[in-house]
Amino acid sequence: MNVLVTGGAGFIGSNLVRLLRRERPHWTVVNLDKLTYAGNAESLADLRDDKRHVFVRGDIADAELVASLLREHAIDAVFNLAAESHVDRSILGPGIFVETNVSGTQVMLDCARAEKVKRFVQISTDEVYGSLGATGRFTEASPLQPSSPYSASKAAADLLVLAYGHTYGMDVVVTRCSNNYGPYQFPEKLIPLMIANALEDKKLPVYGDGQQVRDWIHVEDHNRALLAALEEGRAGEVYNLGSDNEWPNLQIVGRLLEILGKGRDLIAHVQDRPGHDRRYAIDAAKAQRELGWSPRIAFADGLASTVDWYVKNRGWWERVRTGEYRTFYERNYGAR
Ligand SMILES: NC(=O)c1ccc[n+]([C@@H]2O[C@H](COP(=O)([O-])OP(=O)(O)OC[C@H]3O[C@@H](n4cnc5c(N)ncnc54)[C@H](O)[C@@H]3O)[C@@H](O)[C@H]2O)c1
Repeated sequence: MNVLVTGGAGFIGSNLVRLLRRERPHWTVVNLDKLTYAGNAESLADLRDDKRHVFVRGDIADAELVASLLREHAIDAVFNLAAESHVDRSILGPGIFVETNVSGTQVMLDCARAEKVKRFVQISTDEVYGSLGATGRFTEASPLQPSSPYSASKAAADLLVLAYGHTYGMDVVVTRCSNNYGPYQFPEKLIPLMIANALEDKKLPVYGDGQQVRDWIHVEDHNRALLAALEEGRAGEVYNLGSDNEWPNLQIVGRLLEILGKGRDLIAHVQDRPGHDRRYAIDAAKAQRELGWSPRIAFADGLASTVDWYVKNRGWWERVRTGEYRTFYERNYGAR
């Protein structure tokens, strides 16, 4: 089996590539990533000599490149993770979100269709459903009500993927996962940002009152579900993924400070994000029922091991923060 992972130098993608190589050692994984600011070739450093991992720097919106990769590597299945993924950045500049998340996905679909890829797995987010009140959970039947340019672009991509399934009979599966945490997450997202700031005794900026509720899942549990969606999912279906683990942001920040042995005086409340969704919670019963999957990592353990990873891999996130990671690819792969 030959699979193409797009966005495989990002947080979830780099963990997915590693999981696929470990769980399906006979598969070849081609990894297409543009290495935007969020892509970090250093997150793949341990795979450098792995003959069954082929890294290609390029854009998912480049039809010629995508078609040639699908052909050259006889790709059977695609995991499409490449995306602009940061809500705050989408508020500052939505254009690139449409280019990559919407047009890029459409190019991927066209190429996959032309090359007769057997299954196309679109990695989406619970944010397409918008925000919840104090109760209830999103199911696959919940209406799409995205509230940021990021989530709107992801919702548009989901609809295109499903439409390619209906219109052309392509075998497509869409997954919508809740908030991920774990190693190799870019330190602009809540958990790694707070860990890195606390380790440097910098203030921990918490949006508004910090009572926004998110449903957290370890990246490893998410990625096991993606593999299950490829192998067990039904064509044309959407699967919500989550681990029934809701926490207000402020409580997570407090817990991280406790694990790190730092005081709560580091917390600084800052002005809330415009249109900030109040609560997400996901009902993943369908995925559990149909994919033979369930999350395994308890939040307390996952959070502790994540903190431990950031403590032990200080060089990784420090190079991200200084911007030095951006030259890693040229330094290590430039001559190839
Ligand atoms: N992080 C989460 O909590 C979460 C939850 C649910 C779904 N998702 C989805 O999972 C996917 C991965 O998220 P992430 O958190 O790993 O994001 P990330 O920002 O860490 O990684 C995105 C990767 O895509 C690459 N990329 C961006 N534009 C590209 C393009 N035009 N062509 C090729 N590569 C490009 C970047 O270089 C980067 O390596 C996204 O589609 C996101 O919407 C994320």
